[in-house]
Amino acid sequence: MEYLKQRIRDVYDFPKKGIVFKDLTTLFKDPRGLHIIGWDLSQLYRDKGVTKVVGIESRGFIGGSILAFELGAGFVPVRKPGKLPADTIQASYDKEYGKDVIEIHRDAITPDDIVVLHDDVLATGGTMAAAYELVKSMNPKKIYINFIIELSALNGRAVLPADAEVTSLITY
Ligand code: PRP
Ligand code: MG
Repeated sequence: MEYLKQRIRDVYDFPKKGIVFKDLTTLFKDPRGLHIIGWDLSQLYRDKGVTKVVGIESRGFIGGSILAFELGAGFVPVRKPGKLPADTIQASYDKEYGKDVIEIHRDAITPDDIVVLHDDVLATGGTMAAAYELVKSMNPKKIYINFIIELSALNGRAVLPADAEVTSLITY
């Protein structure tokens, strides 16, 4: 885990003054770092029968794809509005200023699926809570929730459902 932590870059005052941004690009560009992420994420779900990994646009696509590949599962994107070509369902959630919307294809998940919902960072939890609502509405057998980084000071876990086992590789 130290290897991963050492490769995450702190960027001060991004996206605005006072915020210390945890930049994962410096970890993803490191070949061994990327390999370890794929391995460590997949170890959490080896024996769980996962059939689909749902990744949240855009930074959740990177770890989500690697995890799906490692597990031999399929990959499903949750996207910002207007990007998915076929019939979608939507959920809105509160951002700092106003509301945001995410979408998933209406036929992306079926009741026989076991799903891992993945994103890069858990901050306030608003994005993941909305994504969970979308996936839940398609009635899969089980939904797990997973992040690479959890910012525990923001207490995002509080808005995530109690029955989804929430795991994070790295907690700050
Ligand atoms: C960031 C991050 C998570 C989300 C976490 O994404 O990648 O998806 O915010 O915040 P929350 O827990 O407070 O909802 P962002 O919306 O900046 O978009 P991006 O992934 O496309 O960069
Ligand atoms: Mg994101």
